[in-house]
Amino acid sequence: MKIIVIGGTGLIGSKTVGILRKGGHEVVAASPKSGINTITGAGLDQAMAGAELVIDLANSPSFEDKAVLEFFETSGRNLLAAEAAAGVRRHVALSIVGTGRTDNGYFRAKVAQERLITASGIPYTIIRATQFMEFLGGIADSSTDGNIVMLPPILFQPIAADDVAAIVADVALTPPRNGIVEIAGPEKAPFNEMIARYLKAIGDPRQVVGDPEAGYWGGRVEEHSLVPLGEARLGRIGFDEWFRRSRAAA
Ligand SMILES: NC(=O)c1ccc[n+]([C@@H]2O[C@H](COP(=O)([O-])OP(=O)(O)OC[C@H]3O[C@@H](n4cnc5c(N)ncnc54)[C@H](OP(=O)(O)O)[C@@H]3O)[C@@H](O)[C@H]2O)c1
Repeated sequence: MKIIVIGGTGLIGSKTVGILRKGGHEVVAASPKSGINTITGAGLDQAMAGAELVIDLANSPSFEDKAVLEFFETSGRNLLAAEAAAGVRRHVALSIVGTGRTDNGYFRAKVAQERLITASGIPYTIIRATQFMEFLGGIADSSTDGNIVMLPPILFQPIAADDVAAIVADVALTPPRNGIVEIAGPEKAPFNEMIARYLKAIGDPRQVVGDPEAGYWGGRVEEHSLVPLGEARLGRIGFDEWFRRSRAAA
């Protein structure tokens, strides 16, 4: 089967492309570097010819509120129009657990992306993942003031990128659900404790403080804002195993 992976050079995209190619599929790893750009439209129509499945794993170069909204709206519109014109039979995209429940600029952009997909008429599956373990350092940095990392003590259930890619590849090859699949890591713990565990593991002296008033990327969050509320597919890689693997790969 011919499969287009938009964002095929990214963290999740490159791993997903590898898994699908091992499975014998013809996979295009699409990204601006390979001449396929969902914002300008460059290379999109040519790439879509003969494709059955498109997996959208692209991410915005900027996380600033307005820029990220523009990215996911423009990218989604261009991509879905090219898919419709080429007769692509299914669309799979990666979103985030809790997008509709937490108000921050990045999540608003993902809600806009999801709306375009559900309104497109193309059979789809949206996979909502919790935060990637590879993103723990970025979260700590974005919540740091001096030597203090301030985070809300809400539930947190990060998932390793290897698990995300394996599940994305698996779900993408099953019939479209015209709905949402939620995925999360195998361990759930308070947000501040998980980030403190990560900083301790890398020998970072910053102190993590749990503050119920602290938000997440500027949005208000509550106990269950970032974890699946119902049935979710769980990854297999816990924090210790992920950390061991990431050190070995470094
Ligand atoms: N971080 C998290 O914790 C988290 C949690 C749940 C879901 N997600 C979602 O997971 C998805 C993948 O994230 P990631 O961390 O794997 O992303 P990433 O590593 O930042 O990779 C982004 C990819 O998007 C491509 N891209 C950028 N602009 C593009 C354009 N105009 N046209 C086509 N491709 C473009 C990049 O191509 P180049 O290499 O050519 O620049 C790259 O391949 C995102 O949609 C994100 O919202 C993230």
